[in-house]
Amino acid sequence: MTAFDPSVPALSVQGLQKTYDNGVEALKGVSLEVAPGDFYALLGPNGAGKSTLIGIVSSLVNKTAGTVQVCGIDIDADRSAAMRQLGLVPQEINFNMFEKPIDICVNYAGFYGIPREVALTRAEAVLRDAQLWEKANVMSRTLSGGMKRRLMIARAMMTEPRLLILDEPTAGVDIEIRRGMWQTLKKINAEGTTIILTTHYLEEAEALCRNLAIIDHGRIVAEGSMKSMLARLDVEGFLFDVEGELPAQLPEIEGATLIALDGHTLDVDMPRAMDLNRVFDAFDASGIRVRSMRTKSNRLEELFVRMISAPQEAGHAEVRV
Ligand SMILES: Nc1ncnc2c1ncn2[C@@H]1O[C@H](COP(=O)(O)OP(=O)(O)OP(=O)(O)O)[C@@H](O)[C@H]1O
Ligand SMILES: [Mg+2]
Repeated sequence: MTAFDPSVPALSVQGLQKTYDNGVEALKGVSLEVAPGDFYALLGPNGAGKSTLIGIVSSLVNKTAGTVQVCGIDIDADRSAAMRQLGLVPQEINFNMFEKPIDICVNYAGFYGIPREVALTRAEAVLRDAQLWEKANVMSRTLSGGMKRRLMIARAMMTEPRLLILDEPTAGVDIEIRRGMWQTLKKINAEGTTIILTTHYLEEAEALCRNLAIIDHGRIVAEGSMKSMLARLDVEGFLFDVEGELPAQLPEIEGATLIALDGHTLDVDMPRAMDLNRVFDAFDASGIRVRSMRTKSNRLEELFVRMISAPQEAGHAEVRV
């Protein structure tokens, strides 16, 4: 693989707009940049415009306005050169179930003019990476759901793309299979391929991605590093399961909000910087004994809900962190 020019983004999208024939404005001016080598998440609720954005970048959907550059190549100036930089894993499994994984990979490379000898060597490498080499010669229809998804990734890697885009690669697969796919994707990224993925699983973005954008109603409502995004969450929520009944008078803890959800469950919101011991000391003083505690929600989930439920006026202001 050729070395990256660190000054050229793997993807640069400027002022992207898409109005479908039926009048739906799926993208209302989206701009974003993904650095080479990055692992980038595109998060957003159903209908936000994620697949439309991916469709335009991969030349499957015509844009209404704006520009797209893949590894510095404008898709309008040289569409096929831009597409050669890019590997796409669509959400739906779309290989021929009656072909073998090895043939699916080699034939795919053939569409891109990769000689058969080269393709055979690459197929072994990508199938090994996807932990599918033992299955290279079975009928694809006999693969498990997780194996089929890994085959989609292996096939996309046949062209050695510099940018791999995955549209909800783990939708509907169980956590074990997802974790296995995370390993595959991490390895691909560690070897230098930039990855962009859309996902509804926020913990997936938190586990994998360094940077992210949250898209809602065709606009980017937040963009930045995962770290800074999470740091913006200055409030943490915990649920405490207590022994026996909660006292009628809950303790007062400055800066924290306590709500009794029922007779033995306490919901506590507190600043992240606050020492948890202060809470335990106050509980002790009130005779509350904690049986177990857990964090209230996934932190990214919390941010996500806050961003997309922000009032429209606030939602319009792009937040960069
Ligand atoms: N071919 C199409 N013709 C008309 N409208 C479309 C078409 N494709 C998508 N849309 C509309 O564009 C908007 C954005 O859809 P898109 O598929 O990009 O969202 P998404 O973020 O990928 O959602 P999901 O998470 O459900 O996959 C939606 O309102 C959708 O109904
Ligand atoms: Mg979609």
